[in-house]
Amino acid sequence: MTSVADTTARAAELRQRLTDANYRYHVLDEPNIPDADYDALMRELEGIEAAHPQLRTSDSPTLRVGAVPSREFATVRHAIPMLSLANAFSEAEVEDFARRIRERLGRDDLRFSVEPKFDGLAISLRYENAVFVQGATRGDGESGEDVTANLRTVKAIPLRLRSGKNENVPRVLEVRGEVYMPRAGFEKYNEAARASGGKVKPLVNPRNAAAGSLRQLDPRITARRPLAFYAYAVGVVEGFELPATHSAMMRQLGEWGFPVSKLIDTKRGVAGCLDYFRRIGAQRDALPFDIDGVVYKLDDLSAQAELGFVGRTPRWAIAHKFPAQEQVTTVEAIDVQIGRTGAATPTARLKPVFVGGVTVTNATLHNADQVARLDVRVGDTVIVRRAGDVIPEVVSVVMEKRPARTHAWKMPAHCPVCGSAIVRDAGEVVARCSGGLSCAAQIVQSIFHFASRRAMDIEGLGERYIEDLCELGYVKSVADLYRLSLDDLLEMKRRADARDGTTPETVRNGKIATKWAQNLIAAIAHSKATTLDRFLYALGIPDVGEATAKGLARHFGGLDALMAATAEELMQVPDVGPIMAAHIATFFGEPHNRRAIAQLRKTGVAWVESEPQREAQGPLLGKTGVLTGGLHSLTREQAKAKLEALGAKVAGSVSKKTSFVVAGSEAGSKLDKARELGVEVWDEARLLEFLRAHE
Ligand code: IVH
Repeated sequence: MTSVADTTARAAELRQRLTDANYRYHVLDEPNIPDADYDALMRELEGIEAAHPQLRTSDSPTLRVGAVPSREFATVRHAIPMLSLANAFSEAEVEDFARRIRERLGRDDLRFSVEPKFDGLAISLRYENAVFVQGATRGDGESGEDVTANLRTVKAIPLRLRSGKNENVPRVLEVRGEVYMPRAGFEKYNEAARASGGKVKPLVNPRNAAAGSLRQLDPRITARRPLAFYAYAVGVVEGFELPATHSAMMRQLGEWGFPVSKLIDTKRGVAGCLDYFRRIGAQRDALPFDIDGVVYKLDDLSAQAELGFVGRTPRWAIAHKFPAQEQVTTVEAIDVQIGRTGAATPTARLKPVFVGGVTVTNATLHNADQVARLDVRVGDTVIVRRAGDVIPEVVSVVMEKRPARTHAWKMPAHCPVCGSAIVRDAGEVVARCSGGLSCAAQIVQSIFHFASRRAMDIEGLGERYIEDLCELGYVKSVADLYRLSLDDLLEMKRRADARDGTTPETVRNGKIATKWAQNLIAAIAHSKATTLDRFLYALGIPDVGEATAKGLARHFGGLDALMAATAEELMQVPDVGPIMAAHIATFFGEPHNRRAIAQLRKTGVAWVESEPQREAQGPLLGKTGVLTGGLHSLTREQAKAKLEALGAKVAGSVSKKTSFVVAGSEAGSKLDKARELGVEVWDEARLLEFLRAHE
């Protein structure tokens, strides 16, 4: 008989050996034991855990095989938003990026962390007391989906932080990075899929494959997909003093057991960055994973904090994209698409062609001037280009291949959807359908925008359903969405199927349609509780993007105050200039917009209003503080929030620009640096006194 103590010790040993083998294989790429041995150890541990469930730990490698499926993903709010990067497509744009940084910081010598731009899916991993507790997708940047169970199956992701002897691990650590599918795994998976005779569907490209795999409700499916991970940033960090640079932070992540790409380097100035771009570009095709460019990040973390953000992108980083991928195909037709504001965009319908990992059937021609400049005609052979996620476009016509008897294209005089005149104002590039909200295409597009994820977020309400709802007369405005009943949806679906002559499952099996309709009704109801900034963005006011919507919501606090604001008052909102202010004031002045808003509120669309928050003010405006060491009466996060509320910026490390350093107990190198630079140092008592005096 083995004793309980022996079994416990054996389980711990197995966990240790499996975790170690895993780390060597998936992170270091230096396997130390044969696969068969690994499997045997795993089976032994599984056996012990099955017999003694109390010995199962939250970081056990047995969790990697995939838990039971869930019904849906919970939502996770990112305490620090997950941002995106601005793009540079040319050397000149990289020069501009660096120049803006030099001007803002008032210094010339810049060091950058230079990194591959991995082409997968951004995620955030949360560790509490060294154990992996939650993983989430980026989602809209503010909140994403809880995919913890799926991420546990990714063997390159540590379930527990590794730590050297006596090494201080953070109480809370969020690591951000990219889940991707290595090319070899992708090819192997597809080979097996092709051999399955249609049972397993092949994956389209590694990027979609990574995203699709992580969004499986059944983690056992994710476990079968060959996913990997690279870390490239941190989010929340508590109970650990951040190093002074991003590159040092990356080294620290490596020590904790995260895969950090060996291609990451640091370089001086623009010249160093461009050098790196060329070097990685030359290696691109030979790399074991897809990349679509490189990323430059200012290495100095306190300088990063000083630069901050514009909208959703940091000023201190940029993605330098590789030239887009191009292909040749033919133009079968040139149509006009009508957007939400009536803009008429000529669009080439193409013979399907595979470009940069996806099949392209449409490409934008932007506007009539562009069509004339390129002289694109129906029947032409053209070069199409696709870069990242942007809409594919026609680059040029292969004139030698032009067939006989083609005609130059002209913008039609009337809207193909509603028949209203298409007009182009003097000095404008864009031609517009003059039908306004009498044009079905404009209504469909504005509802589509209203329902989109970053606006009211009505899940499942795709463009096709909106078209059907409008065409069959169930919806004429956004407010009508909130009046739809289950029966309306089912009837609409039956009529749409009859019209299209389709006998889909929905007709054969009423249950599926009912489920679909119930889900949609629930999603619509769910969207009623929103926030003012989402609502403002959803309205589709010309020029008002998400960042402006946020600014307006913060500045005015409530909708009535905003609707009553004059153009002058609107211009007090950060980043609102005279043109945008005029657009906003005009929008809210229109009776039909005011009616639509009143109707939406009547149907129950609501948000919590708040006090207006005008531009930061307060005794610490223009000052930058740094927190170091432990505080007794409040957490670092609380102290940071309080200082920010008084107008201060709070940075991560000490520099010449630091105005004061708050040093708690056991303050370390930052305190030394502050003393060295002669920066004012506050102890906790001084901080509390200051807060009391000013709050
Ligand atoms: S840093 C604040 N570094 O690119 C900056 N992102 O457009 C946060 N990505 O969502 C991102 N490789 O999915 C960063 N080395 C890298 C990256 C990288 C790929 C992706 C990531 C992000 C997107 C931003």
